[in-house]
Amino acid sequence: MDQDATQALRAASSLDDLYAVFDTNRMTAGWHKKRPSLWREPRSDFRPMHWRYGEAALALDRAGEWVGTELAERRNLLLFNPVGDNDYDTVRTLVAAYQMIMPGEHAYAHRHTPNALRVVLDAGPGLYTVVEGVKLPMCEGDVLLTPNWAWHSHYNEGNRPAYWIDMLDVPFVHLLEPMFYEQHPDKIQPVTSEPNEHPYAYPLAWAREQIAACPVQPDGTRRFVLPATQHMPTMKLGYTQLPRGTASAPARSTASRVFAVLEGGGTAQIGDMRTEWHRGDVLAVPSWTAFSFTADEDAILFEANDEPTLVPFNLLRVDPAPVLPA
Ligand SMILES: [Fe+2]
Repeated sequence: MDQDATQALRAASSLDDLYAVFDTNRMTAGWHKKRPSLWREPRSDFRPMHWRYGEAALALDRAGEWVGTELAERRNLLLFNPVGDNDYDTVRTLVAAYQMIMPGEHAYAHRHTPNALRVVLDAGPGLYTVVEGVKLPMCEGDVLLTPNWAWHSHYNEGNRPAYWIDMLDVPFVHLLEPMFYEQHPDKIQPVTSEPNEHPYAYPLAWAREQIAACPVQPDGTRRFVLPATQHMPTMKLGYTQLPRGTASAPARSTASRVFAVLEGGGTAQIGDMRTEWHRGDVLAVPSWTAFSFTADEDAILFEANDEPTLVPFNLLRVDPAPVLPA
């Protein structure tokens, strides 16, 4: 504080006088702050949300009449949560987007510190991504990872538009601020290998086998968590399989979640939102919001959540608490 502040503090004849001096010097009395800093339990401003694939695909088709990959490095449609002036975050720590790439197009190589993944919705032969020089085919239902600082670019050498869902931890990186991003100096990265399988690629057929080997939960669902944490340390990724007629047990936790419907359809109750979902839809579950999915036909949901950012700091709370085996 400068000399003026010292004089003003000495001259104050009431608390109100002091508050004015505090304010001028960008200080606030903890007992007199405008809003509480602690509260009894989480109270996310983020809302339960649902975006429909059919509408998103049409929106991207229309945009494709004007926007090429020359203009838009990625032709994507961000799914933002209408909270405050937010126009990016889907939930507090994650963002989801639909992306479309037309035949003959490629999305230039770039890399960034946020982790990213793709959930492929519609793809014909000739769709692939290149991650750190590794060419990985993109087929319907596949999940592909592009971890922190990995060069990645996408190609459609087929004869029809391809669509997928991106999920990234960009909002988490925004919160902590270690954002780095760069475009590839040559725009296109060379392909150095084309393996049959790779730790960044999870084909749907493989996922089905893993899901089938998982035990049936008391609510009738099967759940399989991808062994991807070493590549995507901020996100827990997994599948929930719901046979027709089952409903996942209502639960909430401090994790924020984004779901993509890989197959099937049904209804969901997320907080106070009740909605009917179908293949390709995206649903957002904010922190501490109870949710349950009911399947009207055999369904598989893919989920990304931010549990790994909470667990090391003892910030993950689950309600109801998991029942431990006796
Ligand atoms: Fe990217």
